[in-house]
Amino acid sequence: MKVLVAGATGALGKQLVPRLAADGHEVVGITRTDSKLSLLRELGAVGVVADLLDPDQVARVVADTAPEAIIHQLTALNRPFDIKHFDRTLEETNRLRTEGTDHLLAAGRAVGVKRFIAQSYAGWPFARTGGGVKTEEDPLDPAPPQVMRKSLDAIRHLESAVTGADWTDGIVLRYGGFYGPGTSLSREGGAQLEQIRRRKFPVVGDGGGIWSFIQIEDAAEATVAALTRGRRGIYNVVDDDPAPVAQWLPAAARAVGAPAPRHVPRWLGRIAAGEAGVVMMTEVRGASNEKAKRELGWEPRHGSWREGFAEVGA
Ligand SMILES: NC(=O)c1ccc[n+]([C@@H]2O[C@H](COP(=O)([O-])OP(=O)(O)OC[C@H]3O[C@@H](n4cnc5c(N)ncnc54)[C@H](OP(=O)(O)O)[C@@H]3O)[C@@H](O)[C@H]2O)c1
Repeated sequence: MKVLVAGATGALGKQLVPRLAADGHEVVGITRTDSKLSLLRELGAVGVVADLLDPDQVARVVADTAPEAIIHQLTALNRPFDIKHFDRTLEETNRLRTEGTDHLLAAGRAVGVKRFIAQSYAGWPFARTGGGVKTEEDPLDPAPPQVMRKSLDAIRHLESAVTGADWTDGIVLRYGGFYGPGTSLSREGGAQLEQIRRRKFPVVGDGGGIWSFIQIEDAAEATVAALTRGRRGIYNVVDDDPAPVAQWLPAAARAVGAPAPRHVPRWLGRIAAGEAGVVMMTEVRGASNEKAKRELGWEPRHGSWREGFAEVGA
């Protein structure tokens, strides 16, 4: 297939492009900067330059490429994550999830794209009621904290625009928290790893918030599988082991040779990390990968973050 990848130079894109090329797909990758064109060539893609927040540039690049499939992996997360100001931190990512998605869908429709895959998240968007592990059928949070509202609206917009596009096979991949090469929790370092090393990532309250992770190469493999085997709808792309913060955070610290994380009460967590921080540490839910395994014929090589984090610390 001829595949246009938006976000081809990002943490996931760098793992995805070579795998698509190895599978025999013809890959065109987008970047905003000329200086990354050689990287795209090395990864196995033809590079093109465009800003995907500009509808004219999107229309031009999609029309010139005439892809059979578009994969939207756009985020703007390569910056310090200020969890206290969640929506403000995600402001540009939210634009990429709303305007960026709309531009790509409109341009894709004009050239008759058969498949459209977009990135979403499995974790904080879920409703914080009921069981700790959510399927694709479970609702998103009807009443998110004020500071997360715009970000959840952006996720809702992306998911409904993509799965509601009746002229194409619209597929949403809800990835768990990334770790591994090129992410913020990798052997080479990264912001999350540094926070854990410096004991700046405490367990808040009972640490009962459940997180689902996915090793980044496993996420890329699920995406390749979705390109040919996915059907219109949503897939959780997570490992087999959703776990509470109180379990995975001390294990992550041990794996990377850091001292045990501090424990702080909710009220102190609220002062330091705001409402979003408290929710992420105590209330969020994890996700089930049953559907992705069943329908995509995919199996994460790192079934649990327990062995995955050990590789990060090795
Ligand atoms: N599920 C998760 O846990 C999750 C999901 C996403 C990201 N993250 C984390 O966030 C951190 C940063 O992610 P990242 O390395 O992928 O970087 P990023 O800064 O989020 O960029 C991702 C991709 O989006 C592209 N992009 C952004 N704005 C664009 C625009 N207006 N037009 C065209 N392309 C645009 C970038 O292209 P150019 O810069 O080449 O233009 C890049 O290829 C990493 O630690 C990653 O693990 C985690």
